[in-house]
Amino acid sequence: MSNENRSSFTGKLGFVLAAAGSAVGLGNIWRFPYLAAEYGGGIFLLVYIILALTFGFALMTAEIAIGRKTGLSAIGAFNSLNKKFTFVGWLAAIVPVIILPYYSVIGGWVMKYLWAFMSGDAVATAGDGYFGGFIGATGEPLFWFFIFIAITALVVLFGVEKGIEKVSKIMMPILVVLTIIIAIYSICLPGALEGVKYYLLPDFSKFSVKTVLAAMGQLFYSMSLAMGIMITYGSYMKKDTNLESSVSQIEIFDTAIAFLAGLMIIPAAYAFSGGDVGKGPSLMFVALPQVFKQMPMGTFIGIAFFVLVLFAALTSSISLFETVVSIVCDKMKMGRKLACLIVFIFSLLLGALSSLGYGPLAEVTVIGMQFLDFFDFISNSVIMPIVALLTCIFVGYIIKPQAVISEVELNGEFKRKKLFTAIIKYVAPICIVLILISSVLSAFGIITL
Ligand code: TRP
Repeated sequence: MSNENRSSFTGKLGFVLAAAGSAVGLGNIWRFPYLAAEYGGGIFLLVYIILALTFGFALMTAEIAIGRKTGLSAIGAFNSLNKKFTFVGWLAAIVPVIILPYYSVIGGWVMKYLWAFMSGDAVATAGDGYFGGFIGATGEPLFWFFIFIAITALVVLFGVEKGIEKVSKIMMPILVVLTIIIAIYSICLPGALEGVKYYLLPDFSKFSVKTVLAAMGQLFYSMSLAMGIMITYGSYMKKDTNLESSVSQIEIFDTAIAFLAGLMIIPAAYAFSGGDVGKGPSLMFVALPQVFKQMPMGTFIGIAFFVLVLFAALTSSISLFETVVSIVCDKMKMGRKLACLIVFIFSLLLGALSSLGYGPLAEVTVIGMQFLDFFDFISNSVIMPIVALLTCIFVGYIIKPQAVISEVELNGEFKRKKLFTAIIKYVAPICIVLILISSVLSAFGIITL
């Protein structure tokens, strides 16, 4: 192989790994399984996969192409293509600002569990009410949240992301292998088979608009779409890297990890609680300690697992923090250090609300939701679908699909270009409008889905 070929190959691999590194995080391991459990198991999985192959494919292609074409991140990219659409870049930029604080609260939960396993409390974590007791308290969840966001801030402040990325490139494959091992163990637990069936076999009677909404929000969240991130990644992508196949690889990788996480958690949750799997955000933290308790060398495996998940979470939070800092730096014309401090303090305040929302502030709700659920709802079910919709309109009718198609065709044929055009122009905008309207109406209690 000539040198040229080699370097373009590493170019692609490097791009896919970097984008996948940002995409794979708590979204795959913590969020996907509990949503799948809550929204009907197999039917959720099916809807998710269909959406990934259609909406996910079209949006990711569009975002990466816009980034590569302009060489700019979201706000600048929209601005340079059409001034009137600069606001879409801004809207997209709000998403990481909302996600970062509550993402770090969950990151704190992972740290707490890692600590509990390391300090010999592994068995206690499997006890009834352990998780509820932990998040219901005031100081402890706040403490772990603080540590998590402080580490994130320090990494960004001292610019040592590269070091973390190197470590995580080794950790990620280990995480995949460990997840497979735990999933196999989980499936073999007595009573787990029902859970496997629930997760894999779609039950069409469980289908509803809510399933689609939840799956769509999860798709955007997990693949870091509709928030400007993939535009930024695209701006770093070389012109000779094959865009279409990179998109497929990132999607397959991200979905495979989410799928495995579901297989690890849902059957176990079934086995231990006889089908009561609608535990929401606590599902992973309740189900896994019970698996580790029974598994040979469970404490050790638990420690390894939480370390690996912590790394996946940190690479994502670092990339989120970094994104927010660069927006603050650019748009408010201030130095990086000051921007880091501002983002840190802001996240601390907003995250504290989410953390306390399960404890002392449990009575306080916004449109019927606790703070964490509210921030999650506003970003995943409102702003991201709006950004996605506007991106489709922008590509479909302003710059025209051909602009993206020619960018993709800089190297080779764009095999799914008809599918791309149909989704961007018609299917996605219509579906997103319908879903958005019904979700907002139902959040305000005007209709029930
Ligand atoms: N996709 C990440 C996950 O699955 C979470 C995430 C959302 C993210 N937005 C991001 C990560 C921006 C990095 C940058 O956990």
